Amino acid sequence: MDSGALIKKYLTPALYEILAPLKTKTGFTLDAAIQSGLKNPDSSIGIYAGDCQSYFIFSSILDPIIHAYHAVGEDFKHGPDLTGNKLDLVDPDNEFILSTRIRVARNLKDICFPCHISARDRRRVEFLVSDAVKNMPQNLKGQYIPFQDMPPSQMENLLTKKLAFPKGDRFQDTAGINRDFPNSRGIFLSRDKKFMIWVNEEDHLRIISLESSCDICGVFNRLCLGLNHLGKKLEFAFDKKYGFLTSCPTNIGTAMRASVHIRLKKLEKNQSLLRSIANQYHLQIRGTGGEKTSVDKGIFDISNKRRLGISGTRIIQNLHAGIAAIIQAEKTCNSTSL
Ligand code: ADP
Ligand code: ARG
Repeated sequence: MDSGALIKKYLTPALYEILAPLKTKTGFTLDAAIQSGLKNPDSSIGIYAGDCQSYFIFSSILDPIIHAYHAVGEDFKHGPDLTGNKLDLVDPDNEFILSTRIRVARNLKDICFPCHISARDRRRVEFLVSDAVKNMPQNLKGQYIPFQDMPPSQMENLLTKKLAFPKGDRFQDTAGINRDFPNSRGIFLSRDKKFMIWVNEEDHLRIISLESSCDICGVFNRLCLGLNHLGKKLEFAFDKKYGFLTSCPTNIGTAMRASVHIRLKKLEKNQSLLRSIANQYHLQIRGTGGEKTSVDKGIFDISNKRRLGISGTRIIQNLHAGIAAIIQAEKTCNSTSL
């Protein structure tokens, strides 16, 4: 495999020999875990977990990957939980930021993750989540909408507004995550459409707070409100060391990605400067349509890269500081040097 994926870097033939015969209690193997990486040599990571126990049985391959991706020490440990936050608006005149979205991934304890889940357990996840959202706090009340039998025009409308999720990409497909799509998939949507839960996408739940503003704290505090409620109704897969356990090792820990959609007309032409500021603040740059997409009309998706060994509050503070630095560079960027 000619690839820059972390799996390629860390899975030596000797380690493969040791891990290949092992199985988790639910029957997940290393071969299943690396299918997506093998079939997509352009993967950046190349491995998924099939259940909670994968993190322990296959720790000798997952730990170095986690260590490299999250920039944590070898003795890494999950940081403190989410709390509320208060910060100034980062773009008070709404010159650059179009929207802010913060999501966390969660899986239910003792149920296999999406690449290894049975159709029956997928239905169980859908049942448990749709039941848990019946009594959301006042501002977050809404409706669970299953994808099964949804007219294509309604789906199209939800996708355009970034409220629903499509069938996963080739990375998720080869990992087994798309099996039986759209059965047992759906979204919970609050009445104001600023809070939603994606059910049975890459993880059992993707809990999302989204609005067309630069109010990172407001978006974060709404997420915390919803998450606190759900945490009382559902038992999430969690470990003291790894934090919240997720399908992809890039998401463990807080499992949180806080992003802004930001229009950077000047920095689009000076992406080495943009990248150097992003690296300084441990930020990741994605395209306008999300991961592995291109940048459209100068609109970048900028988010935290690290999710483990750092608190949700600290992630928000770093994002705020990094975006402030990027906006400053966009304002002062000398057009003659472009
Ligand atoms: P995830 O956030 O779940 O890891 P993606 O990068 O695929 O995965 O993003 C999911 C969707 O959310 C994409 O359609 C993406 O364009 C959208 N999105 C991400 N950040 C924002 C944002 N700040 N504003 C609006 N939409 C966003
Ligand atoms: N499996 C893909 C890769 O290795 C995606 C990794 C991170 N993204 C994700 N959605 N889990 O490139």
